[in-house]
Amino acid sequence: MITATAGLCGRSIGGRRRTPSRLHYPTYATTTAVRRWITMELTKLTQQEFDRFRTFIYGKTGIRMADGKITLLSNRIRRRLRDLKIDSFEDYYLQLTRDRLPGELEQFIDAVTTNETHFFRTGGHFEWFSESFIPEMVSRAAARTHDKSLRVWSAACSSGEELYTLAICIDEAMQTLAGWRIALLGSDISETMIDAARKGVFPDRSLEHASDARTKKYFTRQPDERSWAIRPSLINKCEFRRHNLLDPLVAPKQDCIFIRNVFIYFDRESKKRAVRNLIDALAPGGKLVVGPADGIYDLLGDLEKKSIFLYEKPL
Ligand SMILES: C[S@@+](CC[C@H](N)C(=O)[O-])C[C@H]1O[C@@H](n2cnc3c(N)ncnc32)[C@H](O)[C@@H]1O
Repeated sequence: MITATAGLCGRSIGGRRRTPSRLHYPTYATTTAVRRWITMELTKLTQQEFDRFRTFIYGKTGIRMADGKITLLSNRIRRRLRDLKIDSFEDYYLQLTRDRLPGELEQFIDAVTTNETHFFRTGGHFEWFSESFIPEMVSRAAARTHDKSLRVWSAACSSGEELYTLAICIDEAMQTLAGWRIALLGSDISETMIDAARKGVFPDRSLEHASDARTKKYFTRQPDERSWAIRPSLINKCEFRRHNLLDPLVAPKQDCIFIRNVFIYFDRESKKRAVRNLIDALAPGGKLVVGPADGIYDLLGDLEKKSIFLYEKPL
């Protein structure tokens, strides 16, 4: 940890500035720390440090960092060291794992997860949702095999685009769903992503796959001319919460779960554990929508395969 005293600005005496601040005349400690950071730019985690961090990450998230990720992990952790002004990976590891850095576990998880997402990602899944799933639910309600309620969960929703896309699809079907009780839940392990989802402001690139008509109807251009705010009425329909897929979901059973682009870095054991929790969270007849690269098809034996991306829990 840096030992230099910060914030010692020169005080004004009789209108004149006294000795300039110590910040302007770096102490031995600050220059040493700066030198160490510069050196660190060039250093990576040692294999031993990498192994300790990845074991810790695995235990917390289920994500298995492959051998080739040592540079990636070094770069991401180095940013945390810089923000915290800690000058060694070892020191950071000890403080993190001994709970000496309040709130840092969340920051660390943010730094090591990949949060890439956008509206209408893999558009076919949302066409299925609008054109098949909603009509099927309406038919089941008409046949009185299901009440007029709909629970949808975007598990690992990142900054919320997936759940808001589903909210848009539901809004577009509102005529057929009038009088229905609808609960939309988005969750992610990253607190920062959940905060962003609740704010509902998205950069241009997030909307690249949204049609102009939908952008116009559901979003407002922000003064920075680079981002869009989603309609508050949609924010109000969505609940976002932090949730780790390795833990069971505490919520009523879901009619549809989207779980996409999250298991890429999970090993088989973590996938199994998360998939068990997802299947438990599904209502009988509930649907599971999986991403193309998640590699969980062979773990979905309890569900009936409906298509390449769609699985159903038996009634
Ligand atoms: C690439 S994003 C996918 C977002 C969205 N599902 C999509 O397909 O666009 C993956 C998300 O999984 C989250 N994640 C990783 N491990 C998790 C875990 N154990 N529990 C819950 N979320 C996790 C990450 O924080 C990240 O936001």
